[in-house]
Amino acid sequence: MSRTSVTPLDILVVGGGAREHTLAWAVHRSSLCAKLFVAPGNDSTPGERVDIAAHDVEALTAFAVERGIALVVIGPEVALAAGLADNIAAAGIAVFGPSRAAAQLEWSKSFTRQVASVLQLPSPAWAAFESHAELPAALSWWRALGDKIVVKQAGLAGGKGVVVPLDDETCEATIRSFFTTGPVVLEQRLRGPECSLLAFCDGFTARPLPFAQDHKRLGEGDTGPNTGGMGAFAPAPVPYDLNELTAQFIQPVIDHMRANGTPFVGMLYAGLMLTADGPKLLEFNCRFGDPEAQVLIPLIESDIVEIMLACCNGQLANTPIEIRDATALGVVIAAPSYPATGPSLGALRSEVPDTDHQLLFRGNAGGREYTAVGIAQTLAHARTAAYDLAATVAPAGSRYRRDIGWRAHGATLSSYAAAGVDIDEGTRAVDQLKDSVEKTHTSSVLGGIGAFGGTFDLSEIMGMKHPVLVASTDGVGTKVELAARAGRYDVPGQDIVNHCINDVLVQGARPLFFLDYFASSVIRAEQVAAVVNGMSIACAASGCVLLGGETAEMPGVYMPGAFDVAGTLVGVVERERLLPLSTIAPGDVLLGMGSSGPHTNGYSLLRKLFDWLPLDAQPEPLDRPIGDALLVPHRSYLNSLRAALEDHGLIKGLAHITGGGLIDNVPRILPPNCDAAITLGSWPMPPLFQLVSEVATGLGTDELYRTLNMGVGMVIVVDAARVGELQAAIPEPTYIIGSIVAGTKRVQLG
Ligand code: GLY
Repeated sequence: MSRTSVTPLDILVVGGGAREHTLAWAVHRSSLCAKLFVAPGNDSTPGERVDIAAHDVEALTAFAVERGIALVVIGPEVALAAGLADNIAAAGIAVFGPSRAAAQLEWSKSFTRQVASVLQLPSPAWAAFESHAELPAALSWWRALGDKIVVKQAGLAGGKGVVVPLDDETCEATIRSFFTTGPVVLEQRLRGPECSLLAFCDGFTARPLPFAQDHKRLGEGDTGPNTGGMGAFAPAPVPYDLNELTAQFIQPVIDHMRANGTPFVGMLYAGLMLTADGPKLLEFNCRFGDPEAQVLIPLIESDIVEIMLACCNGQLANTPIEIRDATALGVVIAAPSYPATGPSLGALRSEVPDTDHQLLFRGNAGGREYTAVGIAQTLAHARTAAYDLAATVAPAGSRYRRDIGWRAHGATLSSYAAAGVDIDEGTRAVDQLKDSVEKTHTSSVLGGIGAFGGTFDLSEIMGMKHPVLVASTDGVGTKVELAARAGRYDVPGQDIVNHCINDVLVQGARPLFFLDYFASSVIRAEQVAAVVNGMSIACAASGCVLLGGETAEMPGVYMPGAFDVAGTLVGVVERERLLPLSTIAPGDVLLGMGSSGPHTNGYSLLRKLFDWLPLDAQPEPLDRPIGDALLVPHRSYLNSLRAALEDHGLIKGLAHITGGGLIDNVPRILPPNCDAAITLGSWPMPPLFQLVSEVATGLGTDELYRTLNMGVGMVIVVDAARVGELQAAIPEPTYIIGSIVAGTKRVQLG
């Protein structure tokens, strides 16, 4: 059949749910459709609504005859079971949907099981029971099976006639209750993902649509009671060939039905479970699935009316069925009490956006009210489109699953590496950093890299009178973002070690060992090695052992390319040499030691301040590009203060100027009755801080000196009489920046 040889037809779509809305939507778009009627349709279906129920065979047939309908498309199974296709065909009208006899594949589960047995379609163990008198036999069949089962009403039940009991008590109760409604089929419960295989059939030939996957359970994670279906997507990733499964499960049935004089014309839908022993037949349906229709029909590129007419005329083999190279995912938006009956949802929260990748199909009021469908190149994008639509339009009180497609997403992973974690790269990183770590090792280190914990022999401090361990854990803050952007991985390694060294130094301690933690979105051996090399350089310079560490690959936690560095340092000090001394008093002098840059503080501010400046720009008065100025490593003060610290009492207190700047850090070592009076301009302001003062015009002095070290990274408290002696003991310039005055443990900036 070719498109040009057919004059447009008047077409009637029967049904009123979201599946029929989708059918009507597709028929309405067809160039072969002159006028569309829907019976009964719903308030969103295109075409003219006809107020006749889907099972009212006589009225529908009369309407079709009277209005000269040329094709009737039957959506719901109730209409098929009522014999609508037979009546329509008898009136000489083409009908897409099987006769009542052929639709027995759906309306009688025992018929289906018998056909499947005759045709040897892979199936679960099953047994059918006709009447309540067979209840004892059913219970014994179940008990003899010794396995979990699925309990089914043999007849139609609107998607609610299948229960998968979780425990024996519920199972027995379900069997007993189902016998009150009619014949019952019991089936061994199979395990595995389900897939829906739908094929157009013309009585001879079956032409499949892509595999779809329904989500039948009400609850997320596939929990709770079975429903008509809470969402679907297609194509579903099924590890079998579509044509082979069609040949295995659909074609034999088509041949069998024809041979029995009940040819199947319409849509045959095999519900399959993909078990460890291969695909097995769960059920047949004789129409489009709901919500499978909502995702499959939008993927059909060919004219759906042309395909349906080909089914009616036995011409399917010659009719092209083009499928879009895309994925569709549908989320069912149900009324709050679904699957129980209850009030319907109110108005949509907003209008449906007019896009070609988002479609909203209207379903049944009080039940599955809408299906929000997203169509895109990938499943992930289709999902986003569908959920964006659902979030935009779903009326207040809607219930919808947030996990449609979750198994497919999980199934895409074939290795830990595919999840973003590359163990081999981690091993390569360890190989590369081994040398730099071992360079810091001394005879105190027992055991090597790869042990569960670092072992450090403390006999070297046995000579001490009263050793006190001082430990510090820290990180380098958002400077890591800048370092990642500039590819300067060595910097944060030095930063973290020196930061910790200074933290224990201000308590008078020298470092013993350091343990690091490095985490990133993706491990690259060279990058990790550079970071650890930075740590090793800083450790070696201060006689600290790099004793151990952890490298963590955390995709999805860190943004792509981002990393973080932290560490713990343990140092030791004679108890009597712990700083600060209690003798700090008004009259003492404050000496400042220069910082190498902002160290590891204030970077959230600095990154914003210079956000629009390329890292290689060099505004005055900088002596290097801004990126380099910001990325000077945090310096250590240990070596410069080593000699001075040997002279017990010379240094009364040390304050490391970290987060909180001079204003918050100096008070940490003050007695309660003292203030620190600091004179602004008493030390040379490094160019970077001059630039900061110039640009950050909105920040007051207090704010600036609370955020950044402004050129002073260490403050020393010294007796006024010993200032010269101390300055001489420190092999670098120091500046008198203020003094201790009476007060309340604050800084006075003046
Ligand atoms: N989605 C299941 C059905 O239509 O029966």
